Amino acid sequence: MTGRTAIVTGAARGIGLATTKLFLAEGVSVAMVDRDVPALEEAALEEAARNLGDVLALPYDISRPHAVAAMIADTRARFGRIDYLVNNAGVADFGPLERTDFERWRAVMATNLDGVFLCSQAATPELKKTGGCIVNVASISGLRASTLRVAYGTSKAAVIHLTRQQAAELGEYGIRVNCVAPGPVRTKLAAAVHTREIVDAYHDAIPLNRYGSEEEIANVIVFLCSDKASYVTGQMIAADGGFEATGVGLPALRAARLDET
Ligand SMILES: NC(=O)c1ccc[n+]([C@@H]2O[C@H](COP(=O)([O-])OP(=O)(O)OC[C@H]3O[C@@H](n4cnc5c(N)ncnc54)[C@H](O)[C@@H]3O)[C@@H](O)[C@H]2O)c1
Repeated sequence: MTGRTAIVTGAARGIGLATTKLFLAEGVSVAMVDRDVPALEEAALEEAARNLGDVLALPYDISRPHAVAAMIADTRARFGRIDYLVNNAGVADFGPLERTDFERWRAVMATNLDGVFLCSQAATPELKKTGGCIVNVASISGLRASTLRVAYGTSKAAVIHLTRQQAAELGEYGIRVNCVAPGPVRTKLAAAVHTREIVDAYHDAIPLNRYGSEEEIANVIVFLCSDKASYVTGQMIAADGGFEATGVGLPALRAARLDET
């Protein structure tokens, strides 16, 4: 992958930062995009980018069309090409359906869905030139419905279908588009919405009995970008410890538990 260039959105921390580091280890230059909201202590982008290597820190909000256009222009100006777009930036806002007012709904959709649409559309002319690829980061919440995430789950389900739309249309230009659906990963995003009780319940529901790490998700993202995945497009891979595979995943039905009795 040496000599290629990636744009990673939401790169200041969590899965985006881990993906950035893995790309750099593979010889890929990275435009790290994150919005700058000092009041929310999200001005971590400059800090994260310091001493990392061949990176460009871009403090843009990917839900705003003008910012997305600037993101592409700045990346082109610095690196001259765009090979990979990782649409990773996301927000989680968990709450009951009746308390999800339109403002909260729109805030989730603006980043999680509009942002993926805008960044992909803006990057397409550059990806056509390089025969590059897009990886969208969805969630197991987009695969299986659950409580408290009417906006988040719906936005992620839409990202999974958007991936297929993009793959269907961009294939003829040699652009591959795939999607990763992470299970729970202990990042700031998850910490804000996962109580101790939720963490324990996830451990029970996941066949591997644990959360994933940022690096485990980054590995799948970078694999999908690599030439090793050259005939893979329009796919969704759940990196979730087996969560999605378990329909009747009752903890009480575990072999280990039966052995105990
Ligand atoms: N952590 C999990 O358990 C989990 C599970 C499934 C899916 N995901 C998905 O993985 C992705 C990364 O999540 P994470 O856990 O690393 O979260 P995180 O909160 O640690 O990092 C997300 C980053 O995105 C940035 N961001 C948010 N909105 C933005 C916008 N409009 N413009 C630019 N940057 C923006 C944030 O500032 C933050 O730095 C998200 O799409 C999330 O929905 C996470």
